[in-house]
Amino acid sequence: MKKVLLFADGVCKAFGAGKKGLVLNHVSTDIYEGDFTVIMGASGAGKSTLLYALSGMDRITGGRVFYKEREISRMKEREMAALRAAEFGFVFQQTHLVSNLTLFENVKMAGFLGNAGRRLQWSGGPRSF
Ligand SMILES: Nc1ncnc2c1ncn2[C@@H]1O[C@H](COP(=O)(O)OP(=O)(O)OP(=O)(O)O)[C@@H](O)[C@H]1O
Ligand SMILES: [Mg+2]
Repeated sequence: MKKVLLFADGVCKAFGAGKKGLVLNHVSTDIYEGDFTVIMGASGAGKSTLLYALSGMDRITGGRVFYKEREISRMKEREMAALRAAEFGFVFQQTHLVSNLTLFENVKMAGFLGNAGRRLQWSGGPRSF
């Protein structure tokens, strides 16, 4: 039987007061290990908001999110950042690049941060990779 990797239980996300501000209205889903999962919806439906909620990128305003049975929606910022660096790969809709690094160094940076606990050394540009 496949293991549940991510589990969302009644997730809500509001950006403002009232019905209009509510983007995620009690979303529940299971995401299984090894599956390729797609979120589809019209522009503005809340796909990015849901991805941020499921990956601990943004705080939710209601419900719970579990990753490998750990409740990420209750984690402190520091714990969430460590989990994201070690476990999540993320391609943003908009580019979020560090402007004084090359594209290659930007890609490398994610791996560097994710392996920080293993004392890797940041060694600069492509030639030293
Ligand atoms: N930081 C924010 N502050 C206020 N409203 C926001 C914020 N982020 C998203 N929204 C609103 O939440 C709704 C869902 O946005 P979201 O970006 O999740 O949609 P989407 O499905 O990813 O759209 P697209 O297909 O265009 O990428 C939109 O109405 C958007 O304006
Ligand atoms: Mg989007």
